[in-house]
Amino acid sequence: MKTLEVDLGHRSYPIHIGSQLLSNSDLLKPHIQGKSVVIVTNETVAPLYLGTLKTQLSNYRCDSIVLKDGEAHKNLETLNTIYTRLLEQRYDRKTTLIALGGGVVGDIAGYAAASYQRGIPFIQIPTTLLAQVDSSVGGKTAVNHPLGKNMIGAFYQPQCVLADTEVLKTLPPRELAAGLAEVIKYGLLGDREFLLWVKDNMDALKDCDNATLTTAIERSCQMKAEIVAADEREGGQRALLNLGHTFGHAIETEMGYGEWLHGEAVGAGMVMAAEMSRACGWIKQEDLDLAKEVIAAADLPTQPPSKMTPDTFLQHMARDKKVIDGSLRLVLLKALGHAVVTADFDQAALMATLERE
Ligand code: NAD
Ligand code: GLY
Repeated sequence: MKTLEVDLGHRSYPIHIGSQLLSNSDLLKPHIQGKSVVIVTNETVAPLYLGTLKTQLSNYRCDSIVLKDGEAHKNLETLNTIYTRLLEQRYDRKTTLIALGGGVVGDIAGYAAASYQRGIPFIQIPTTLLAQVDSSVGGKTAVNHPLGKNMIGAFYQPQCVLADTEVLKTLPPRELAAGLAEVIKYGLLGDREFLLWVKDNMDALKDCDNATLTTAIERSCQMKAEIVAADEREGGQRALLNLGHTFGHAIETEMGYGEWLHGEAVGAGMVMAAEMSRACGWIKQEDLDLAKEVIAAADLPTQPPSKMTPDTFLQHMARDKKVIDGSLRLVLLKALGHAVVTADFDQAALMATLERE
């Protein structure tokens, strides 16, 4: 097992990574303050892993709330069902909420924990690769509003994160690939050597080899933990974690959520960011080719859907959270393994990228 720390002073917390962690109660118990625990999960994950987790918590009053599966349920209505259950069962402020699931469950349960009785302790047990390398770390919690994704939320850090690689074996291959997009993202934005390691170990990653996954998750979480420790509330460098996301969000929004998985859109979006960095003259052709090769090897798309025109991209990109005073900022590559957030780019390079020249 590997253990990292997210260094946030008195709110610091460990990330444990390895196989069979779900059946190791010693990792959880130090982070449970009171006598009560409520597990929030969903109808897909519950039959697979809820029983194992509950067995570890037999010394506590332990309840579970099983949500419907899917992004469509990441909303205020679902959040309210969690509040209602907690209130009906008279759960107090010492109750620990545990999120057992992918990023959807983690984001909803995290915001429920942040807001129930002004904040109760919270533990993340992410069960998708995307959640293990990204959403469970760093304290962003949210639900969607009909007018926008992740628009109601809070920064609220967990007490600990427990990433068990064994649970990834039941993930559908498309979901595993979507998580690999985020792993590749860390290599592209900050560590060329890691990108090459991911390329060389792609088969083992896709086969869910525990040791290889542990290394990939550890390096990804290490990079995320460093960025979050330096910029928890995204005043600056945390935006680097959005490499490929401005193009990717445009694809997701235009296609309708669910048609393309987030990670798939980010895969194509990262290729576009690399193409634009090449068009700006910042990275070499061989770097662009390498980025594409790794993304394709993960079974991710390397180009946007054909229905995306420059106009549809520009319309969606104008609504990006990184737009400040009307000026579009993008995460681009000054070199492979060195990303920057910048509004200082050649407009012609952007248009050439969107026109797929
Ligand atoms: P998800 O939570 O919808 O999970 C994907 C699918 O896999 C679901 O059907 C789920 O039920 C299923 N599943 C989960 N674990 C499984 C397992 N071990 N075996 C079999 N099936 C399993 O999607 P996701 O990709 O994990 O997360 C996406 C969400 O994360 C989005 O809502 C996004 O906004 C959010 N997100 C948040 C952050 C953050 O920093 N908070 C970062 C990135 C993404
Ligand atoms: N997923 C981006 C972030 O946590 O900031």
